[in-house]
Amino acid sequence: MQSELSASPAPSLSEDWQHRAREVMAGKQSNFRPGPPGDPVIADRASGFRIWDVDNKDYMDFVLGMGPAIWGHSNQEYFDSVRAQLDRQFSSPSSIMHTTAEIELAEKIVEHVPCADRVRFGLTGSEADQLVMRLARGATGRPYVVRCEGHYHGWLDNVFDGHLNSEGDAGSPQTSARCGAGIAPHALSDILMVRWGDLEGLEALLEERSHEIAMIMMEAVLCNNYCCPPRPGYLEGARALCDKYGVLLCFDEVITGFRMSIGGAQGALGVTPDLAVFGKALAGGLPLAAIAGRDEVMSVLKDNKVLGGGTFNSFPLAMAAGLTSMEMLERDNGAFFTRLENVQDRIVSGLRASAERQDFKLMVQGPAGMFAFAFIDLDVAYAPHELEGADMATALRFRKLMEEEGVLSAGGFRMVTSGDMPDEDVEEAISRIDRAMVRLRETA
Ligand SMILES: Cc1ncc(COP(=O)(O)O)c(C=O)c1O
Repeated sequence: MQSELSASPAPSLSEDWQHRAREVMAGKQSNFRPGPPGDPVIADRASGFRIWDVDNKDYMDFVLGMGPAIWGHSNQEYFDSVRAQLDRQFSSPSSIMHTTAEIELAEKIVEHVPCADRVRFGLTGSEADQLVMRLARGATGRPYVVRCEGHYHGWLDNVFDGHLNSEGDAGSPQTSARCGAGIAPHALSDILMVRWGDLEGLEALLEERSHEIAMIMMEAVLCNNYCCPPRPGYLEGARALCDKYGVLLCFDEVITGFRMSIGGAQGALGVTPDLAVFGKALAGGLPLAAIAGRDEVMSVLKDNKVLGGGTFNSFPLAMAAGLTSMEMLERDNGAFFTRLENVQDRIVSGLRASAERQDFKLMVQGPAGMFAFAFIDLDVAYAPHELEGADMATALRFRKLMEEEGVLSAGGFRMVTSGDMPDEDVEEAISRIDRAMVRLRETA
């Protein structure tokens, strides 16, 4: 008989579930984006801005559903609106009718988003990005879309990843070799890649090929790659070049939408594209995406010249959630955004101060609602290649230590913030982050 002393401890509930997950799940999580090293957290429940695992350990949530859950996990007003919609109408055939909530939400987007005269709803950012490209090609009759190195427009074949080709040539399609296996061999060929921030390169391409180019598409702030801000003057310059060469400009606002301001990045930065794509935070946590744009361009959708479908488009729960979320964002003259800046400033300052105390060089940057960190001696990076010297191994270890201390961060060393995070949670998060930084130094 094994003595009590030599018996190995019983596996925790998390370990049990992690074992079961390894048997049946295809991957550590249902997404390609890498989590921190080690087994995934097995979530049991959530409330406010915390998630509890099956062993009752609590984690402060700076992922927020990869961006959407700007009201946290239990906002009563938000939940009540979804429950009320459940009682009123649960499902709706998108192919034959509108709901009133759908029309009201479109009206709100048109009211607040500078480029929006008309709106079409979809389900995910990836789909909406596909529709906006089809729309641009249909509206202009030109085959190519230009997009920028390091930007993300969803996981579908033609836009996956975002490198220049293997020779590093701007103005050419990317090569599939770096996109993982299984990409359709010709899917990338109608998208030309350029360097973000390089107006001269963009102008050279437009001068030569604008007659074949329907649209230039970019994140206005590069949230998917260390939250790089646009180089001063770049967005204005890109807008001017699009006007000069008659090419459509689209901002992919799937992350920045209703996070940087109620008018998105375009509202905050004062540059108006022709088209924009929204997703993530649009419905505060339920799946919903939209494209919005100038009347003249959107009319090809309105007139069914360009076709786009989707069984679940504008499903009523997301419409009600989106409408309530917009009303909450509008309230008290946009007080949410002031609170958001305050929460983010405090967490970013706390993180910087911890790094300084432990003698790490840490760059932290990001627009309202999200920031990214990199272990590198820089104040700001305008493009991902400027971060090539960042210490990834230390950043990954820090992510893991934060997780152990009960702070969740998102892929790409990003942390998502909310203006509704209570003061005591902000303070608690700062101390947990500090403990992780102390342990990082101890184990360096
Ligand atoms: C800028 C941007 N566009 C598009 C997408 C794709 O959205 P989804 O994951 O909802 O398909 C994302 C997702 O992270 C994104 O960040």
